[in-house]
Amino acid sequence: MNKQLITFWLTCLLPFTLLAQQQAVPTPQWRPVYHFTPPKNWTNDPNGLIYLDGVYHLYYQHNPFENKWGHMSWGHATSTDLLNWKHLPVAIPEIVTKDTITSIFSGCAVLDKNNTSGFGTNGKAPLVAIYTADLPKQQRETQCVAFSNDGGLTFTNYAGNPVLDLQKKDFRDPSVIWMEEQQQWVMVVALPTEHKLQFYGSKDLKKWDLLSEFGNEGDTRKIWECPSLTPLYVDGDPSKKKWLIMISSGNQDAATGMQYFTGDFDGKTFRNDNPPAHQQFVDYGRTFYAAIPYNNLPDGRQTMLGWLMPFQTETYPWRGQMSIARDLLLKSTPEGVRLYQQPSSVLHASLEKLPAAKKLVKNGLEIDSKEIPFGKGGSFNSNANWIDVTFTPGSGDEFGLKIGQNSVDKTQTVIGYNKARNELYIANEKGVVADKVTVKPSEGKIRLQVLFDKSSVEVFVNGGERVLTTLVFPAEKATGWSVFAANGKVMVDTLKVWDLSR
Ligand code: FRU
Repeated sequence: MNKQLITFWLTCLLPFTLLAQQQAVPTPQWRPVYHFTPPKNWTNDPNGLIYLDGVYHLYYQHNPFENKWGHMSWGHATSTDLLNWKHLPVAIPEIVTKDTITSIFSGCAVLDKNNTSGFGTNGKAPLVAIYTADLPKQQRETQCVAFSNDGGLTFTNYAGNPVLDLQKKDFRDPSVIWMEEQQQWVMVVALPTEHKLQFYGSKDLKKWDLLSEFGNEGDTRKIWECPSLTPLYVDGDPSKKKWLIMISSGNQDAATGMQYFTGDFDGKTFRNDNPPAHQQFVDYGRTFYAAIPYNNLPDGRQTMLGWLMPFQTETYPWRGQMSIARDLLLKSTPEGVRLYQQPSSVLHASLEKLPAAKKLVKNGLEIDSKEIPFGKGGSFNSNANWIDVTFTPGSGDEFGLKIGQNSVDKTQTVIGYNKARNELYIANEKGVVADKVTVKPSEGKIRLQVLFDKSSVEVFVNGGERVLTTLVFPAEKATGWSVFAANGKVMVDTLKVWDLSR
């Protein structure tokens, strides 16, 4: 080898070789147990969430070839309990021809019960996916449809695609529902850089007519993507129907990646309940993003999954995970109608089935300026668990939970409530507080439902009035957990913990 070649190798290629080797270090200690991850490679947004014959389908933005964003295709998995997922082959792959690459970006799936599209065969209702085709070379995004007559395993792209083309670079993420009263399909889709949504109507999922637009209200600091439009009964009362719009905006430097609006929708136009400047957020952590609701759930239930956007720390051989399934609820409050979220009722049912050794219940425990470790002496150590605890604040300045405690290097994640600031915060294993939310006690109490799953922490406060989600990267043996009060007392009214490690 000549000298020049050696110098080139040392300075240019070696760093990449080392980096590639570095990234390939497996990180099983961070692979969640009950949150969805692909067996290998990259995932971002959930797509085409649909419930069919007792099965929850999850399609997801996926790079089938690498552990980073690219080659966007729809990966596929199914579940009957929203805890355990069966991995299936890629359902809609990117389309590569001699001169064009078409990435299959985010979208939705609907069951076309009346075969309005004519895509169904043998009198069966087809499953229709509506997605964004992104053409990087042409700098164009259009809306396309694909249909499946084998229960969602494989899809055929419609020969008349695209079904919507505004000749724009940014025009994406269609979400479609059937409106029974109007007997038509309604699509909401984003014009990201214009901070605008468009509503389209269709009788057959192929020909779409513009109904109206909504935008430039709420938070417009970042682009708008992944919109959804969902009917809900306020306080569960069928006479009080409202519509929920959720939108994802920007990325991690905006701690509040998803915002929502509530209002009325008459099948054509959305009317915001609140003044245009009013802002409301779905989750106050940096990671929760691109969530969309399931289609076709029974009994008017509305449940969503979101993507937990990875932080800088590499995970291997997969990257990215989904949130837990969350039920969407609208409640009347003195401030107006507000979004509440709860871990899906389906998940609660699974918890009840766990054996006694996997449950811990403690009621009426006063803690005075100390930490009570539950991870030792009789109870279980676990870094994949679900904690439901209700505190009555006392004289203590702060109280809460310490999870992922590592007895060797003493690192831990603290989920603390600061009484003076009315603030719930998460301090990660490095002691850094990057995720926090202001929330007051409800009827004098703070309830925390903490879903800790190796590298993800989702905290539902006061029955889901606020949600704070983050990612943490504890060591494998960081399985201790405790309840604490600092500088005074706190009353633990109830404490229930389920060990979900396997
Ligand atoms: C959101 C998003 C979508 C797009 C997809 C591409 O994370 O940017 O707007 O459809 O990801 O992977």
